[in-house]
Amino acid sequence: MEKEALYQLIHSRRSIRAYKSTPIDPSLLERVLDAGLWSASGKNLQNWRFFVLTEKKRDAYLALSQKSWLTLKDNLKRKLKPSLYEFTERFFFTLGNAPVLILAYAVIDEQDHPQTQMGNVYLAVQNMVLAAQAEGLGSCILGSPLEIEADVRNFLGLQDRPNWKLVCGLTVGHAAHSPPAPPRQITDRVHFLKD
Ligand SMILES: Cc1cc2nc3c(=O)[nH]c(=O)nc-3n(C[C@H](O)[C@H](O)[C@H](O)COP(=O)(O)O)c2cc1C
Repeated sequence: MEKEALYQLIHSRRSIRAYKSTPIDPSLLERVLDAGLWSASGKNLQNWRFFVLTEKKRDAYLALSQKSWLTLKDNLKRKLKPSLYEFTERFFFTLGNAPVLILAYAVIDEQDHPQTQMGNVYLAVQNMVLAAQAEGLGSCILGSPLEIEADVRNFLGLQDRPNWKLVCGLTVGHAAHSPPAPPRQITDRVHFLKD
């Protein structure tokens, strides 16, 4: 890949919260998932586990997504302007019609640093986000499933795996909007040290 194409990909990526009904070609989805599996990981643990929800399973998840909205909505009502609040509510109720929801878990060894083990999974998710972008797909990382972690665990039948920790969700699909880039904070984010 051309160097500039990589930077262009990084800069043009947006969190997509509205999707077309067009299904994802399974071969594209496989490539996106494979990109995740090629991520670096501390001690080469590769301790990620991904659940790929489509069709009826994705639809069934919407009831949980709606429940997570209830835990967040009062806080968001204070923070967001009304139009954005309504858009966000719709996203929680429909997942923006994304045909695919990936739920990412980290298998955690309590004897080792949890930050590294959770971080491994986020690196893999970011690989998927960029691969999706390269394939002409949109995606949005979701922290909101953490609001209903126990429900998600039961939904996936993971009750007997207490050391599997939910990291995030990721919607994937063909983008139906192109949101503007939120301004990036530049000052005080990077500190160069020499002596
Ligand atoms: C860890 C993490 C959790 C996020 N959780 C949510 C979420 O639950 N719902 C949502 O709509 N967006 C979520 N986002 C997307 C962010 O809101 C988004 O990345 C941010 O506003 C910057 O916009 P951009 O991704 O388009 O550059 C999350 C992003 C990250 C990295």
